[in-house]
Amino acid sequence: MSLRDRLTAAIALSGPISVAHYMTLCLHDPDDGYYATAPRLGETGDFVTAPLISQMFGELLGLWAAEVWERLGAPPRARLVELGPGDGTMMRDVLRAAKAAPAFLAACEIWLVETSAPLRTRQGAALEGYCVRWAASLADLPADAPMIILANEFLDCLPITQMIFVEGWWAERRVGVDAKGDLAFVPAYEDEAGPMIHEHCVALAETARTVAGLIGAARGAALFIDYGRDTPGYGDTLQALRGHRNEHPLHHPGAADLTAHVDFPTLAAAAESAGLEATAILKQGDFLQRLGIKARAAALARARPDKSDQIGRQLERLIAADKMGDLFKVVCLHAPGLSAPGFEP
Ligand SMILES: C[S@@+](CC[C@H](N)C(=O)[O-])C[C@H]1O[C@@H](n2cnc3c(N)ncnc32)[C@H](O)[C@@H]1O
Repeated sequence: MSLRDRLTAAIALSGPISVAHYMTLCLHDPDDGYYATAPRLGETGDFVTAPLISQMFGELLGLWAAEVWERLGAPPRARLVELGPGDGTMMRDVLRAAKAAPAFLAACEIWLVETSAPLRTRQGAALEGYCVRWAASLADLPADAPMIILANEFLDCLPITQMIFVEGWWAERRVGVDAKGDLAFVPAYEDEAGPMIHEHCVALAETARTVAGLIGAARGAALFIDYGRDTPGYGDTLQALRGHRNEHPLHHPGAADLTAHVDFPTLAAAAESAGLEATAILKQGDFLQRLGIKARAAALARARPDKSDQIGRQLERLIAADKMGDLFKVVCLHAPGLSAPGFEP
């Protein structure tokens, strides 16, 4: 039975399900979930992420992590953790750049937090030669050493609930079945301007609290990069991507990547109330330029003049305001008193 058939049967029996439950099944159902079965990252797949666009992205984060380790007092034992490492490209670039800081590399245990079995296999291949450990959840990591956490496009996979304002009331927007037997949002709306929708992600605050438990005591920092908002706002941001195209989130359950914009102010506020400090929320373009991406691009182009046009296009994609530069935001949650590189005023 396909995931769609199982969903419609379950909804017929017990009524509409929350958007969060729908997202969780579409992404992680053991038999049909997108990440559990056949995630397709890359140009020939469903979507491309910053580390897949250019090695510069992971390299700069590797140097960022090494600098954080220095600012933590160069502890002889530390953990370098990536959440949702995809095909392992970013960690490979991080570790290559970190070779410039051999003491940092020698101090670090490398951990990958990943639920997807097929992606764990790809990560293992990409990181051959390194000693890598996996955990299914951040909460499974030990908290007895300083930790530096990197996460690109991880938070956008966390399930959201949606509230919709219709006919003068707020109601939960859920996934039901329409008269034709197709999956459909309920309550339905006809307003052409679009309804007012408020999104809430319980797992976002939980993630912040787990990070606080890990880096509050033993010290450390967590860098989150994702597409999302830097001020509170309304709007339906649930989206499905398949073959690099946006499609209706209910059309191909389990066959498309499902994401929602990350509510960065809520993440930062939850971290602060759990005892961490949060930096300002920066735009990706600004953050990468503060880390020196233009100089890195120029150095790569000098080394490979035959690729300089391509490198220029990659740079543009990562930092231009009308590409990823403004849409993607960056925040660092860190132990009190630490100053996070790239966020200094
Ligand atoms: C959009 S991909 C991003 C991949 C990679 N960070 C990159 O930038 O190319 C999302 C990643 O998060 C993982 N993931 C999604 N939900 C997760 C969860 N609840 N726990 C751990 N990993 C998760 C996916 O399996 C995948 O590796």
